[in-house]
Amino acid sequence: MTEKPAPGDMIETGSDIGVFDSGLGGLIVTKALIEAMPQYSFSYLGDTKHVPYGPRSQEAIYGFTRDCVDFLFRRRNCAIVIIACNTASIAALRRLQQEYLRANFPERRILGVVIPTMEYVASKGAGSAGLLATDSTVRSGVYDAELAKLDPGTRLVSVAAPLLVPLIENDGGRFAGPIVREYLENFRGTDIESIILGCTHYPYLEGLIRDEAAAVIGRPVEIISQTRIIPESLGDYFARHPEIERKLARGGARSFAVTDVTESYRAQAARLFGGEIEIEKIDI
Ligand code: DGL
Repeated sequence: MTEKPAPGDMIETGSDIGVFDSGLGGLIVTKALIEAMPQYSFSYLGDTKHVPYGPRSQEAIYGFTRDCVDFLFRRRNCAIVIIACNTASIAALRRLQQEYLRANFPERRILGVVIPTMEYVASKGAGSAGLLATDSTVRSGVYDAELAKLDPGTRLVSVAAPLLVPLIENDGGRFAGPIVREYLENFRGTDIESIILGCTHYPYLEGLIRDEAAAVIGRPVEIISQTRIIPESLGDYFARHPEIERKLARGGARSFAVTDVTESYRAQAARLFGGEIEIEKIDI
């Protein structure tokens, strides 16, 4: 006899796409997703109470991520959640899929950002690429491992840039120049053809990173941003999974929530979206 599924198993028609990040990085990804697929409804959650995730242990990041994803499924009725945060994708994605999702919402889906990013890098063929990411992401070695599986010929030069997330979260982008330059110095003398922005916060500094990289390396390099990769790979996913896509709400509703809200956060969100957006502070 098959067991009747618990109510949480079912994906209701009219579901949202959830986007989770430790903070502002997810907003820039959500904006890119909205621009690419405005017909769907999006629910964003930023764990601003615990940002930055980068210096924390894998166990702590897993716990925060699970609680946030759970919020998006239970209280925002998402059919699918994108863990836009690289650090959280690495620490939590597989375990959430294998343990949490199976036990609670076997019909729903959680996607991460590392594989689509590495698929893009591998599609460019063998060469050498730079990775700029948080401490936790670089220490995990997951980007190296995934690239080795997809394209063993390509070499990755990884650099941790731990000061960038706190700077961006505190609206300090204008002070980033010398810090970015210092990190990029690690790429001097290498033969990298591109730099992967391996943290969702870094697209806020994309122009600066592009200019400084060209100056330090002595030639222009491609800047690979997940604000372009994630919408494309989600579009592909929906084309391959019509059973999920068909459950999504049409009509373009948006909701933005954070676990802590500051004036600086509101100001940066308004700047990004070209006007005030409603941000709800939630307790989980
Ligand atoms: N934005 C997250 C990432 O993509 C990490 C930021 C943080 O340290 O919280 O890796």
